[in-house]
Amino acid sequence: MSKITNDIRYIGVNDHELDLFEGQYIVPEGMAYNSYVILDEKIAVMDSVDRRFGDQWLQNLELELQNRKPDYLVVQHMEPDHSANITAFMEKYPAAIIVSSAKAFTMMKNFYGNEYTDRRIIAAEGTELVLGTHTLHFIAAPMVHWPEVIMTYDEKDRILFSADAFGKFGALDAEDPEGWACEARRYYFGIVGKYGAQAQAVLKKALKLDIRVICPLHGPILQENLGYYLDLYNTWTTYSVESEGIVICYTSVYGNTEKAVQMLADMLKAKGCPKVAVNDLARSDMAECVEDAFRYSKIVLATTTYNADIFPFMRTFIETLVEHGWRGRKIGLIENGSWAPTAAKIMKGLLENCKDTVFAESTVKILSAVTEENKNQIEALADEMMQ
Ligand code: FEO
Repeated sequence: MSKITNDIRYIGVNDHELDLFEGQYIVPEGMAYNSYVILDEKIAVMDSVDRRFGDQWLQNLELELQNRKPDYLVVQHMEPDHSANITAFMEKYPAAIIVSSAKAFTMMKNFYGNEYTDRRIIAAEGTELVLGTHTLHFIAAPMVHWPEVIMTYDEKDRILFSADAFGKFGALDAEDPEGWACEARRYYFGIVGKYGAQAQAVLKKALKLDIRVICPLHGPILQENLGYYLDLYNTWTTYSVESEGIVICYTSVYGNTEKAVQMLADMLKAKGCPKVAVNDLARSDMAECVEDAFRYSKIVLATTTYNADIFPFMRTFIETLVEHGWRGRKIGLIENGSWAPTAAKIMKGLLENCKDTVFAESTVKILSAVTEENKNQIEALADEMMQ
C-alpha cells in the first residue's frame, strides 16, 4: 500500500472514530487523512494528518525514512485535519523547512503560534522546489478549499498532489460498494461547492499538465482512468447536470404532503422519467439531499406552511443550496397549509436569486389532505416537469 512510485510513499492514516467530519458531515465509512513522502536527494513530506493520529503519522514516516531526516514539510492546506502536527514535526526535525503559501504562514501563526520566519520557503504560483531527480511545481488553488491552498505537481512521476480536490469521505480500508463518485460528490458539494468558479480555474490549470496519478488529501489515490474523475470534476465545478432525472425533497408533518410526493413520484416514473430520487429532509442526511440537488436536472420541493414560514428542515435545505451557489435547474413546488398556505411563495422567494433557474407554472396547493383537485394539479406538475 505504501509504495506509490519508486520514490513516493503513502504515510497517511485511517480514522474510524470520527462522528462528524468538519463538525457536520456523517462519515459512516470513516475518513482518511492522506500524507505522502518523496524520497530523493532531499526528502519532502506532503502535509500532516489530523491531531489524533500524530504519533501514528510520525511512525509511518520514520519507517519510510530508514534513518534519514526529512528536509521539507510541504503544507498545501492549513485546515487542521492536515496541519495539526506541524509543530510536532518541526520539533522532531529541527533542520526541516516548511514550504507553503504566504497566507498559510499567517494561518500557522494564528493556529499554532509560529510562522517559522527562519525556517520557511514561501511557495507562490510557479515556485519550484528541486529535490534531486524530482522537481515540485506549486500551483495556487485559492478556495479549494481555503484561500491559502496550493497544489503540487511532481514533474518526474507526473503526480498531482491535489490537496482537498478529488477527495472523498471514507477510510481507505473501508468497503466502498457504491464507487468513488457517491461519496466524492457529497464531499465536493458539501465542502467546496460554493467555490465552483475557483475550482474550475484550478482544474483548467491542472488539465494543461501531463498527470498520471492524483494524490488527494482524502480518499483513494487515483491512478487509472483519470479522465473519468477529471470529467466529473468538470461537471461539478461548472454546476452542470450530471444525471438526467428529478429529485423530490420534502417534509411532511402528518403524511399528507408525503402522500402527494409519492403520487408525483409514481406519475413521473409512469411517464418515463429516467430517475426519480425521493428524500424526506427530516430523516435523510442533509448533505446527501444537497448532493442530489446538484446531481439531477430538476427538483421538486414539497413542504408545509409553518409558523408563517416553511417547515424548518426545508428552510435549512434551501438556504444550504443558495449558500452553495446552486443554479441552473427546473424547480417544481408543492405546498400544504391548513389555514394560510404561503410555503410556495416563501420557497420561490428564497430561490429566486439562484442563477438560471426556471419555476414550473403548475403549483400544487394542498389545504390539509390531498383532494381530487390536488391529483389533477400533481398530474399537471408531473407533465410540466417531464417537458
Ligand atoms: Fe481536508 Fe479542507 O481540509
